[in-house]
Amino acid sequence: MPLRSVGTRKVPRDAVHHPLFARYYARFSVNAETKLGIGVLRDRMLAGLSGRVIEIGAGNGLNFAHYPGTVSEVVAIEPERVLRQLAVEAAVRSEVPVDVVPGAAEALPVKSEAFDAAVVSLVLCSVRDVPRALSEIRRVLRPGGVVRFFEHGRGGGRVMTFTQQALDRTVWPLVSGGCHVGREPVESLRAAGFELGPYRRIMIPEKGPTLPTSYCVLGTAWRPATKD
Ligand SMILES: C[S@@+](CC[C@H](N)C(=O)[O-])C[C@H]1O[C@@H](n2cnc3c(N)ncnc32)[C@H](O)[C@@H]1O
Repeated sequence: MPLRSVGTRKVPRDAVHHPLFARYYARFSVNAETKLGIGVLRDRMLAGLSGRVIEIGAGNGLNFAHYPGTVSEVVAIEPERVLRQLAVEAAVRSEVPVDVVPGAAEALPVKSEAFDAAVVSLVLCSVRDVPRALSEIRRVLRPGGVVRFFEHGRGGGRVMTFTQQALDRTVWPLVSGGCHVGREPVESLRAAGFELGPYRRIMIPEKGPTLPTSYCVLGTAWRPATKD
């Protein structure tokens, strides 16, 4: 882990450091739960899960209240300090046991094949290295383990995809905590060797203006059951 100097001391630098974005997201995301219907989508994403779950990039812990009682334990990985503290507070209120752990998707600090399910929501847009993150998720899932995802990405016609690419190359990652609007989460999962289950394309907001972030997908994928 990189080090930075504080006076004469060396302290570990966080893998992700976006304090302004973190504060903005903490407010925006809570409003979006009801205003944009994200809470309902979290319910759908997590329905039917059971056993040990790893959640990647848990943010301020908004998924925690939506896990069904059949989940025995959630290990919630969150690299950003401000969001992680809010996730710890959400974990205390959670009905299922949640352990919030610092770490990054590209090097998950957990054992191989230790989880029945992995959850990624609005995270693949922000990780630095998508193939590496997905290979890590594959490593920590047991064979046949499930991925539940809710992500946004590339969509629309030529003008929109051009706009998304332009945003990704310029200001968007800088102002939104490393987020990219033109990634392709379903294709990335497939390329990483996951079997795609049912998935549904959704526009957010459902009605109203179409934004570069509007093209969402909610679905399921599996680590193949055969050992590789
Ligand atoms: C838009 S927020 C989504 C938070 C949460 N998953 C949700 O559904 O509300 C993106 C999250 O990804 C996290 N993140 C960014 N880079 C990451 C990485 N390399 N590994 C794990 N999480 C990362 C951020 O810190 C932030 O919590």
